[in-house]
Amino acid sequence: MNAVHDDSNSGKNISTERTLRTFVEFFEERGHRALTGSSLLPPPGDPVLFTTSGMHPLTPYLEGLRPHPLGRRLVNVQRCLRTTDLDEVGDSSHLTVFEMLGSWSLGDYDHGQSLRWGFELLHDGFGIPAERMYATVFDGDEQVGPDLPSLEIWGELGLPVERTRDDNWWSNGPTGPCGPDSEIFVWTCPDGTPPRGTPTTDPRWVELWNHVSMRHLRHDDGSLEPLARPSVDTGMGLERLVTVLQGRTSVYETDLFEPWMRLVPQLWPGLDGDSLRLVCDHLRSAVVVLGDGVRPANTGRGYVLRRLVRRLLTTLWRDDPSRTVADLPVELVELVEQTLRHFRQSTDSGPVLAQLRAEEERFGRLLDRGRRVLARREFRGRPLSEQDYFYLHDTHGLPRELVDGGLLGTW
Ligand code: SER
Repeated sequence: MNAVHDDSNSGKNISTERTLRTFVEFFEERGHRALTGSSLLPPPGDPVLFTTSGMHPLTPYLEGLRPHPLGRRLVNVQRCLRTTDLDEVGDSSHLTVFEMLGSWSLGDYDHGQSLRWGFELLHDGFGIPAERMYATVFDGDEQVGPDLPSLEIWGELGLPVERTRDDNWWSNGPTGPCGPDSEIFVWTCPDGTPPRGTPTTDPRWVELWNHVSMRHLRHDDGSLEPLARPSVDTGMGLERLVTVLQGRTSVYETDLFEPWMRLVPQLWPGLDGDSLRLVCDHLRSAVVVLGDGVRPANTGRGYVLRRLVRRLLTTLWRDDPSRTVADLPVELVELVEQTLRHFRQSTDSGPVLAQLRAEEERFGRLLDRGRRVLARREFRGRPLSEQDYFYLHDTHGLPRELVDGGLLGTW
């Protein structure tokens, strides 16, 4: 295959779009059928609020409960939302909504083949030198022995290997399909410092691609049953890959966020650092969630959306209460539509912006009410008690983080 990372097209020019296409085509050339990525909403009956990984919609097929209509080799790009990462958003790598590149062998080729292709794509396809890669492998525990075949393959391919226990076991929950995994890490250090340490000892080793050997089923009592037909499930965060390939230290410096990082500070001067990143991430994520048909609410998915919008507004209004999402350039909403395809609902900027604006107005009214309540004499000149917080939340819908957040004034 032709390397993407060649002289005529230096690393920094590899666009997100090209990265994505290279991944999908690599697996198509090896007999995989491309799935249309599902929306963020899991299939009916699934208890989770949002799809959190590329394999999630494929769980029944990985368990071998039924054959997949497209066959035993699959590839896809799946958008995911992880609320567990919400508090980390604003740093250089965590996004609320991200895309996962995935490949699967549903009882077809083995885990070793997957590792070999993983190396080939990163090394020959994307041009990442072997000296900048490190692999990790499951070292065994009380129930399952060490993953010796993977150790051998990485040895053949010339990659250094670190062996771990918990970090190299993958499951999607306490029960269900699971198994040992092997992860490929890449050394990221733009100042040219040569690789040092190992993935667990130096954070400049960034986890890029996880290859899971899905060969057990965990039962309620913790016991493991071998799957009749083991599968392989791999997942790699697109945005993280793009950050590495474009030689950046932060996803916000890649082409994916370039228009955001250019237009948002023009719109709202003074926003910078973590606040700017949080606003860009939450706005982009809110547009995606709205595009998948979710509407703000006080429970479930709608509550996640509401939290996203309120967090971004809290950040925006801290410095300047006149800022409004109504000013958001249409171009940014359209960009989300182009980069995250296949929406359930039209993401026409009109309706999406109208929804955002309506939620902004609701939040504005809640803040007004909060200010009026807290201005009452009974709250003045004393710290709030636990009982006050309970009353404010229960009776007036004012959560503690909002009361303490500085937008309601001092009392
Ligand atoms: N299931 C694994 C993960 O989410 C690989 O797709 O990392």
